Amino acid sequence: MSTATSHADSVSPYLQGAFAPVDREVTAFDLPVEGRIPAELDGLFTQIGPNPVQPPKHRTLARYSFFAQDGMVSGVRIQDGRACWFRNRWIRSRRVVKALGERRPPGPRHFPMDTVNTNVIAHNGLLLALVETGCLPAHLGSTLETMEYTDLGGSLRHGVSAHPKLDPTTGELHLLAYSALRRWAEYLVLAPDSTVRHRQRVPLGGRPMVHDIALTPHYVLFFDTPVRFSLGAAVRGTLPYTWHDGHQTRLGVLPRPGVAGGLRWFEIPDGFVFHMVGAHEPDPARIELTAICYDRLFDGAEEDPIANRGHLWRWTVDLNRGTATADQIGDRPNELPRSDPRLIGQPMRHYYALTVDGASDAPVYHPHALLRHDFRTGEPLIRRLPPGHAASEPVFVPHPDRPGEDEGWVTYYEHDPNTDTTKLVWLHAADFAGEPVATIALPIRIPVGFHCSWIEADDFAGTDSAFAH
Ligand SMILES: [Fe+2]
Repeated sequence: MSTATSHADSVSPYLQGAFAPVDREVTAFDLPVEGRIPAELDGLFTQIGPNPVQPPKHRTLARYSFFAQDGMVSGVRIQDGRACWFRNRWIRSRRVVKALGERRPPGPRHFPMDTVNTNVIAHNGLLLALVETGCLPAHLGSTLETMEYTDLGGSLRHGVSAHPKLDPTTGELHLLAYSALRRWAEYLVLAPDSTVRHRQRVPLGGRPMVHDIALTPHYVLFFDTPVRFSLGAAVRGTLPYTWHDGHQTRLGVLPRPGVAGGLRWFEIPDGFVFHMVGAHEPDPARIELTAICYDRLFDGAEEDPIANRGHLWRWTVDLNRGTATADQIGDRPNELPRSDPRLIGQPMRHYYALTVDGASDAPVYHPHALLRHDFRTGEPLIRRLPPGHAASEPVFVPHPDRPGEDEGWVTYYEHDPNTDTTKLVWLHAADFAGEPVATIALPIRIPVGFHCSWIEADDFAGTDSAFAH
């Protein structure tokens, strides 16, 4: 037996340590706090990720599909300088309600699968849990229960994807919904009340994974990469997207509604991007985009694809010449980049991400350090966690009254393997490597998962009363 085979036959790292699923839902009030929670904060800090409701049939690295597991959302409610409560709840998909002996939540799905496990946003007063592709959002109550699946009053004809972008100046939500079932995506612009301002088909020439988009004042940007739908992988029950050699990687530049022109594709060196860092327009003929790019991914060469590390790249589009250049501008692997959401479409100085520290061979997605990248100096500032600790995605939480880029906090969940507990950590953004402002002890571990979100209380004020479908 080869080393690779025995490795593939070992228990998936996504079922162990900081990733190990939890087996119950917990509610706790008035959580213990060290330090001081900023009194200005009023909202909910969530994390969502895969957490199988029943012990998985396949547990090996080769057969356990982390991405496909039942979603669990966990959250801490922050108000008046207190950590009022913690809750963790499975998203009530068909598989979850069957396992728990409950009734299915109402509402349409628009897809054969209704597992939702990737991201949480707020829109039109509703808390919405999203998945990578296909299914409609799960509408959550303010205490994280699944109330329904929703097409937002008929606005969503197809499923959505996990990373819509909110334009901070207009309040519009921009979505690019792609699906394994179609060779095109739907570009949607929703008004703050969820009505459709714009709907457009975007031909993709196949079925690529389009995980994220970037927004500038005039354009929406996305990648068409060699990571494409694979029927064989779907039949095997693993992630149904694999690397397809020979497919030219392209950057799509689509004018926003009211902007002249149509979709343009720019050929760029091969690679794959999960997450955008940011984009802006230095002048009317140029767009600069930064993102975390992988040379290759999901190509079968590694049993654990996330161990293939992503780096910071910049693409510069010259709209007059019709060219795009690509440059790697950081040499430290990092992933799950987050920045000040008030600066979407504008130049920014900093972003925050998970990274690995120096000589470690750990995959980046077993994250034991955080970074704060500085675009002005090109240098990241590293925040190292104690040995064995693991962090969630670090989220920039803006100060509600102060607009400066450093005016806010960086917040993340941190797992301690010695006590097998998780705490919620608040840092001053301007003192990223310093002592936390506050740490909040949780009553149960949160497995390392996908995305974290800070949702202001005003942004989900209608979520308990509205039924949107
Ligand atoms: Fe993502």
